[in-house]
Amino acid sequence: MTIYNLGSINIDKVLRVPHFPAPGETLAALGYAEGLGGKGANQSVAAARAGAATVHLGAVGSNGGAMLRLLEADGIDLSHVARLDLATGMALIMVDGTGENSIVILHGANTAVPEHAVAEALAGAGPGDTLVLQNETNGQLPAAVAAREKGMRVVYSAAPFDAEAVAPLLPHVSVLLLNEVEAAQLSAATGKAVTELGVPHVVVTRGAAGAVLHDAAARTGTACPSPRVEPVDTTGAGDTFAGYLAASLDQGLGWDAALRRALAAAALSVTRPGASASIPAAEEVAQFLRRAG
Ligand code: RIB
Repeated sequence: MTIYNLGSINIDKVLRVPHFPAPGETLAALGYAEGLGGKGANQSVAAARAGAATVHLGAVGSNGGAMLRLLEADGIDLSHVARLDLATGMALIMVDGTGENSIVILHGANTAVPEHAVAEALAGAGPGDTLVLQNETNGQLPAAVAAREKGMRVVYSAAPFDAEAVAPLLPHVSVLLLNEVEAAQLSAATGKAVTELGVPHVVVTRGAAGAVLHDAAARTGTACPSPRVEPVDTTGAGDTFAGYLAASLDQGLGWDAALRRALAAAALSVTRPGASASIPAAEEVAQFLRRAG
């Protein structure tokens, strides 16, 4: 079936730094690179490299051509991406010697996605298709409502976390993806544990420790470990996980296999620099899983 992803497209401007600067400190960078990023674009690239038919919904400005060519190179359908008279989204990223990052985003065109374009794209979708969402665009709620009316699976990464954006979406979400910090923030905002949100499946990622799947119907919480790797750059690891997980569920894998595959893909992505550029292809993930046993 098809993955429809309403998501941001950013130009990532990445500085490698010896450490994150303190307020008032001026620091010399060790290197600079530009690449395709945005939580949405990264998730589309991950889903496409996992082998899923992927349609990206979003918007860029006139300086977004290079980013679109990179998405196109992965076979992603861009016919519903709006070209607007605004700046393309941008992210200023610092990555330190341990692979940790610090990110500032400028929304630009990402928060001006025309709602009619989303509705038009979803008109062709149906039961068995998947809608993927994050928090770097406008229009998530009407898209989620339309998708659920069509019987689609809705996979939502609640990042960057914003309690006001998350709460109204929850009744329409099939799979909610949170990291541990976001899970704690959501519990504080709603006064509920992640198991009490009314979402059928909640996956809490725990960085190098893997992920926990909370299955509301089965009333279970199952931990899935992550393969151990030496981190170079953790940027986009959560997006790699989300895109691979959505694609794997779409391809009919069970939860256990889908989580193992998504965690393996995310682990591989942190061993190299960049966001979209670091996302492994399906065959590489399969080999990595075979070696890990
Ligand atoms: O999740 C990583 C992404 O966050 C980066 O690619 C950056 O563009 C921001 O959206």
